[in-house]
Amino acid sequence: MIARIILLGCLLSASPLLFASEASDPYECNKRKPCLKHGAEVFHYRCSLCHGNDGLGEGILPLALGNYPNTNLLEPRFGKSLRRIEDVIRKGGKMKKVNDEMPPWEDELNRREIKSVALFNEFLHRDFEAAVAMLKDLAKGIEPSKRIGRAIYLGRCALCHGKSGRGNGKMVRIIKNPPPFNLTLSRVDDHYLYNIIYKGGEAMGRSPKMPPWGKDLNEQEIESLILYLKTLRK
Ligand code: HEC
Ligand code: HEC
Repeated sequence: MIARIILLGCLLSASPLLFASEASDPYECNKRKPCLKHGAEVFHYRCSLCHGNDGLGEGILPLALGNYPNTNLLEPRFGKSLRRIEDVIRKGGKMKKVNDEMPPWEDELNRREIKSVALFNEFLHRDFEAAVAMLKDLAKGIEPSKRIGRAIYLGRCALCHGKSGRGNGKMVRIIKNPPPFNLTLSRVDDHYLYNIIYKGGEAMGRSPKMPPWGKDLNEQEIESLILYLKTLRK
């Protein structure tokens, strides 16, 4: 009897620990707490334009522009610890010595998104292959939707085409003749949209400043974009 009580006591006192370690498992996604999986999502949608699909710096933007600061996250100059990574993400170019091209994310992303993407960034340093596998898994098996299209649009297209598609993104200061297309006036069909997104402007006899996305986005993601682009039309 006494032994059973002791055993029970042990179980009871051990269980809060068990729960605590479960709740803080960074892989598990809990709606309120920061976690790796959510960080991978934020990274995929918001960071790969400049840092590349796998964080190695070969983003579409640096490739399209050339002469761009080094965006390889595996060769960090500032973000060497989790806390520093989080600082750079929050403040970006507002920090001393950090290039202006790195946006400050504190007004754009919420606390959980910032903490999660910082965790993911640190995971990239620690276990690159597992981190890349996680990113690949994300994009698999999604159903095309306007919601996903919008997330991709905001992360990869808005910098040139503008948040509401009017061709007035931040990059218009360097992309001219022609400027990024005003997508509210676009009337081309789905087939054409698919091709210009997949192959880029140059392959379609248009400006090479419209990048090809076929290597960065999968079929379902491009279909999601097409659904979303049509909602921008006037
Ligand atoms: C518009 C392009 C752009 C986007 C989008 C962007 N970054 Fe950056 N980021 C940069 C540039 C450029 C640098 C290099 C700054 C420098 O070298 O001074 C940088 C630097 C960083 C660094 C510091 C790396 C180091 O050398 O220590 C971190 C961390 C970082 N970015 C994380 C992120 C995260 C996370 C996201 C998404 C939420 C993101 N970035 C989105 C352009 C971008
Ligand atoms: C670096 C700047 C840049 C980025 C990023 C960019 N575009 Fe473009 N895009 C352009 C430019 C410039 C044109 C105009 C090409 C021309 O008229 O020759 C264009 C044209 C287009 C067109 C042609 C519209 C029409 O009706 O003819 C579509 C569609 C388009 N972009 C979609 C996208 C999507 C979707 C994304 C994100 C996945 C994207 N673009 C990202 C610069 C960009």
